[in-house]
Amino acid sequence: MFPSRHFTGIETLTTEELLSVLKLAAEYRAVLEQEDKNLDDLRTSTVANLFFENSTRTRFSFELAERRLGATVINFNNESSSTAKGETVLDTIKNLEVMKIDIVVIRHTLSGICNLLSRSVSASIINAGEGTHEHPTQALLDVLSLQQHFHDLNGLSVGIIGDILHSRVARSLIFALNLLGAHVHLIGPKTLLPDSFTRFGAKIHYQLDPILPELDATVSLRIQMERMESGYLPSLIEFHKAYGIDERRISRMKSHAVIMHPGPVNRGVELSHYAVDCGKSIILDQVTNGVAVRMAVLKMIHEFRKSAR
Ligand code: CP
Repeated sequence: MFPSRHFTGIETLTTEELLSVLKLAAEYRAVLEQEDKNLDDLRTSTVANLFFENSTRTRFSFELAERRLGATVINFNNESSSTAKGETVLDTIKNLEVMKIDIVVIRHTLSGICNLLSRSVSASIINAGEGTHEHPTQALLDVLSLQQHFHDLNGLSVGIIGDILHSRVARSLIFALNLLGAHVHLIGPKTLLPDSFTRFGAKIHYQLDPILPELDATVSLRIQMERMESGYLPSLIEFHKAYGIDERRISRMKSHAVIMHPGPVNRGVELSHYAVDCGKSIILDQVTNGVAVRMAVLKMIHEFRKSAR
């Protein structure tokens, strides 16, 4: 069980807590393979999905997870809600709370907003990706996918490639991989990979090719186009040449190595078309696991709330 009624990040979890949520997620993943995928574990819970940023995978997998568990679900539309008239997120959640919402799933551009809200509301807050801070359920689905492929992550070498500096996915994944004993290699241009990331216990590489044959898994991060305008990257073509996974690079990877990406993929930038669709790619498995891990997080929070009543 989580030690809190909120789930705002991986950084504060212990290895035991991480393993327990992954175990439950693996059980739910097996349920998702059954003909009848619907349960009633959250029948008494009402969940609101508040997405202030675009999302396909996280948004739909949370809603599917909530519905698979039998929760009552409401979805918030940023453009047509009163936040467009200037209402704060905190006031929005306080109004939802008095309508008896139990759990709020939130994606927002502001780093730290989930922790801030969790101190001010009695509904449970789940971080669905905030600013450049954390995207904890993404890290859960990433490590569940690695567990399914390799069983034990202890000693596994995982390369996280691209825009590490601005990536909430990278931060959460580094914390999760550290808890599970994997070796973390951060790979990218100096402008997007500051030396300070060594404090996370990761090795830093400014070139992909020398380290590539040693990696068991590559996790390429989405390049945000606006970074080029800010001078972080010379061009997408240059980035692809230096850090893109393509057929030539795949031929230098370990035979058992897997290719991962949180999505959405910029085809031809982080990964070539071949890399996205080849046998080493487990990108779509990651997406299926997204439903399972979100079911597990919702269930653990629901159980905590029940025990705290
Ligand atoms: N990986 C991820 O967060 O994708 P979405 O932005 O589509 O939710």
